[in-house]
Amino acid sequence: MFIITTSALINIASTRSPLYVDRAPNFVRPYIIEHYANAQAVAIGQQVYRFPVTGASSGGAFSLLSTSSPSSPSSPALGVLPHHHQSYHENFFCLKGRFQLWTSDAVAVAGVDSNEIQARLLTVGDYGSVPQNTTHTFQIQDPDTEVVGVISPGGFKELFFFLADSNYTASTQTPYAPVAATSNGSGSAGPPPEVLQQLQQFDVYAELDFNPRRDLVNGSAPAGIGWHEKMDIIPAMAGRSYFVAKDHGPKFLNRDTGYQIVQPLVTPTTGEGRFTQGTITMSLHPSNGSLLMHTLASHTAFEVLEGALWISISDENATLITGDVALVPGNVTFAYWSEVAFTKVMYVSAGIEGIVLLGSAEQWGWPVFPVE
Ligand SMILES: *[C@@H]1O[C@H](CO)[C@@H](O)[C@H](O)[C@H]1NC(C)=O
Ligand SMILES: *[C@@H]1O[C@H](CO)[C@@H](O)[C@H](O)[C@H]1NC(C)=O
Ligand SMILES: *[C@@H]1O[C@H](CO)[C@@H](O)[C@H](O)[C@H]1NC(C)=O
Ligand SMILES: *[C@@H]1O[C@H](CO)[C@@H](O)[C@H](O)[C@H]1NC(C)=O
Ligand SMILES: *[C@@H]1O[C@H](CO)[C@@H](O)[C@H](O)[C@H]1NC(C)=O
Ligand SMILES: *[C@@H]1O[C@H](CO)[C@@H](O)[C@H](O)[C@H]1NC(C)=O
Ligand SMILES: *[C@@H]1O[C@H](CO)[C@@H](O)[C@H](O)[C@H]1NC(C)=O
Repeated sequence: MFIITTSALINIASTRSPLYVDRAPNFVRPYIIEHYANAQAVAIGQQVYRFPVTGASSGGAFSLLSTSSPSSPSSPALGVLPHHHQSYHENFFCLKGRFQLWTSDAVAVAGVDSNEIQARLLTVGDYGSVPQNTTHTFQIQDPDTEVVGVISPGGFKELFFFLADSNYTASTQTPYAPVAATSNGSGSAGPPPEVLQQLQQFDVYAELDFNPRRDLVNGSAPAGIGWHEKMDIIPAMAGRSYFVAKDHGPKFLNRDTGYQIVQPLVTPTTGEGRFTQGTITMSLHPSNGSLLMHTLASHTAFEVLEGALWISISDENATLITGDVALVPGNVTFAYWSEVAFTKVMYVSAGIEGIVLLGSAEQWGWPVFPVE
């Protein structure tokens, strides 16, 4: 039996750091935006798109967006019509649920397999790289799936505003509206062909003849490639699509303060000198250790994947939890640390310097840190 008294209802509103904003600013400044902040969200069919980092808020360097969506179990509907971009490099990361991602590179590179269509089932923590001119599409597989997209260079938001059925509002900040798709609902297969022609102004080139293969076995097509079994290698050249399963890519251990394990997803090479991306797993900050202050040359975003991230930017302190995003402009001094046992964050950094932890890191074979 439950007895709820009004005394149980306490006012939990508190003053917060001015770092918090409810939409990405239209100029570069340090900020934090909470997971599921709605202020700038749009709905396309059942999918809700949010834009924690925009071209404007990153000085044109990159965009970070998220798509929350249910699966469409009754139909094999794609999340978007197959297409490619000539100028934008798109990066897919699975924050929640599962989705399938298909890619087909534009050209076969000498000495490498041809442009055979690749398909992967991405579960939480998996990553897929879709460079320019790579045809791609995706399909949502689980009822509460969230795809985190990184797009380089920044921009691209206008496409989603153009395609939007409505601006998304939800006083509860629920990930997406729990209503069934209309039978004519867009968002499953995307806009009709007559609209597609207009999308070239947004660097979207439809590939109506692309046929997403359905012969996945153990999460991949072609089958038998060791997805989630073997180590994934990041290509030593730009321009090829590739996939990195959670904790199956390269790993480096940094011991500067506590432990930090860096797992690169995009290197200066595959990011074409424009951006790097990866994850940092950190141990509890040592109680006798001082905070390391960092000043990076380039704008860098962090999104919490697991645990909680403490961050101090320009004398403002904040604690971020899963899905929260912080943007730290280049040349702004900041510190970050974990006050819980295991915290994992994604980073996206403009340019090639990245988060500068790798310089003093050693190769490491594990996604967890040492016992002492
Ligand atoms: C993509 O294709 C377009 C049109 O063929 C070409 O102009 C552009 O250089 C290609 N981009 C890359 C990065 O290869
Ligand atoms: C969304 O809101 C903006 C103003 O913030 C408005 O210009 C736009 O038309 C709205 N879009 C839709 C699809 O209602
Ligand atoms: C299609 O969906 C739109 C938006 O949900 C709705 O306004 C329209 O009436 C629907 N059309 C048909 C033919 O069902
Ligand atoms: C799929 O996984 C099962 C179980 O691990 C394995 O026995 C089978 O060989 C795999 N199939 C392929 C094509 O890799
Ligand atoms: C902090 O404590 C650990 C273990 O107790 C010790 O190894 C380390 O040297 C100490 N660090 C500092 C800066 O005192
Ligand atoms: C922010 O946190 C650090 C580390 O705990 C602390 O030294 C500093 O005083 C805090 N700053 C503010 C403004 O609370
Ligand atoms: C940071 O400062 C350096 C040296 O003054 C400058 O070259 C660089 O452009 C600055 N970075 C940003 C993002 O403003």
